[in-house]
Amino acid sequence: MGYVGLPLLLVFGKAGFPVMGLDIDKAKISQLLTGKSYIKHIPSESIESLNAGGNFQASTDFSLVSELDCILICVPTPLTETRDPDMSYIESTARAIAPHLKKGQLIVLESTTYPGTTTEVLALELESGSGLKADSDFFLAYSPEREDPNNKEYSTSTIPKVIGADHPKGMEMANALYSSIIRKTVPVSSTKVAEATKLMENIFRSVNIALVNELKIVFEKMGIDIWEVIEASSTKPFGYMPFFPGPGLGGHCIPIDPFYLTWKARQYGVESHFIQLAGEVNVSMPQYVVQKIESALAVSGNKVENCRVLLLGLAYKKNVDDDRESVTFKVMELLAKKVREVDYNDPYIPIIKPRREYKCFVGKKSVPLKNIDQYDITVILTDHSSYNYDEIVKHSKIVVDTRNACGKINSDKIIKA
Ligand SMILES: NC(=O)c1ccc[n+]([C@@H]2O[C@H](COP(=O)([O-])OP(=O)(O)OC[C@H]3O[C@@H](n4cnc5c(N)ncnc54)[C@H](O)[C@@H]3O)[C@@H](O)[C@H]2O)c1
Repeated sequence: MGYVGLPLLLVFGKAGFPVMGLDIDKAKISQLLTGKSYIKHIPSESIESLNAGGNFQASTDFSLVSELDCILICVPTPLTETRDPDMSYIESTARAIAPHLKKGQLIVLESTTYPGTTTEVLALELESGSGLKADSDFFLAYSPEREDPNNKEYSTSTIPKVIGADHPKGMEMANALYSSIIRKTVPVSSTKVAEATKLMENIFRSVNIALVNELKIVFEKMGIDIWEVIEASSTKPFGYMPFFPGPGLGGHCIPIDPFYLTWKARQYGVESHFIQLAGEVNVSMPQYVVQKIESALAVSGNKVENCRVLLLGLAYKKNVDDDRESVTFKVMELLAKKVREVDYNDPYIPIIKPRREYKCFVGKKSVPLKNIDQYDITVILTDHSSYNYDEIVKHSKIVVDTRNACGKINSDKIIKA
């Protein structure tokens, strides 16, 4: 019932399917049962109306799986501390549902993962816990999620959905299910192909973002503004699509997913050079931003160690309340060792909640923007639309802009990074 599962449940519910939301997180389940949303871009009304329709259940009791026809798994797939795929969520979900499986059910994995997961991990766990046989007693499919939180143009039902299955019956069932809520399904020949499709899409983004991040530094040395170059290049009607530089990668997908393939590729004795190189370039971006901040402070005659810095935006991208893998944490960590004080403002994240990494920042609160003039420098890391950039520039002493949010403002206070 996270960022992927909840919207999917709502679409099926709206289409008239009886739906059940299962999660190990009791807080989420009780919020769902009282009609409350815990995701900024999902209005509580959509959950309330599902509740009112009477076709909705939410629970932490996985034995209810026996009542279902189709089970869609949308659990996290992070990296371990050694940056290997962390299969523990998929494995524990499979172990929790396996004893309650029934003949004839369809189980679809939606989590992003390496090619082979559905057959090598999910099928094995389900078979050993149920005594049933995959693609004979129950059926399996893999269908990657292409959710783009807060995208106003595309939503779950209008984004084409790739579906892979290793048995014709699994494909028939999965295609029938998704076709009833999604305008266009894209059947492929196997679960592996569908798993690889999702990874290719995200690797494509990671590599192209790394490319523009590198070009940003190259062009800057030549006195060329990359943003102007991108705008001009984007007028080419074929063979080019724009990607934008930034302070580094964030979010639950792009910084993580490519390394699922790197890991799997090594088992086949091949190295994925592009993925590694893109990772290196993107990971070096927060350091580049911090250097820009330091040199801007030095030019203005400030001693870096005496300075107070305000970071704007903790969310990993604009207009969302999701701070997973947000690059702001890295910038904050690097700056905390150098400056007197580093604070953040984010209209959607009032406090830093308990988390696995950057634990030292847990409990830190978003400071009000009205105090912006008390800081020696303001750094724009997330370009939320709700920010008034004219006012930000007006009341800041120096602005380091990593997103070109102030691109249309003419002021010598602004430094692009
Ligand atoms: N967020 C996105 O925009 C997005 C887009 C495409 C793909 N994905 C992929 O979708 C998957 C899910 O991502 P998300 O953003 O929804 O994550 P999330 O953290 O928002 O949600 C995951 C949910 O799974 C629950 N959970 C954990 N272990 C469980 C278990 N054993 N049984 C039942 N529930 C369990 C968690 O409590 C949480 O509510 C990941 O593989 C991710 O890479 C995410």
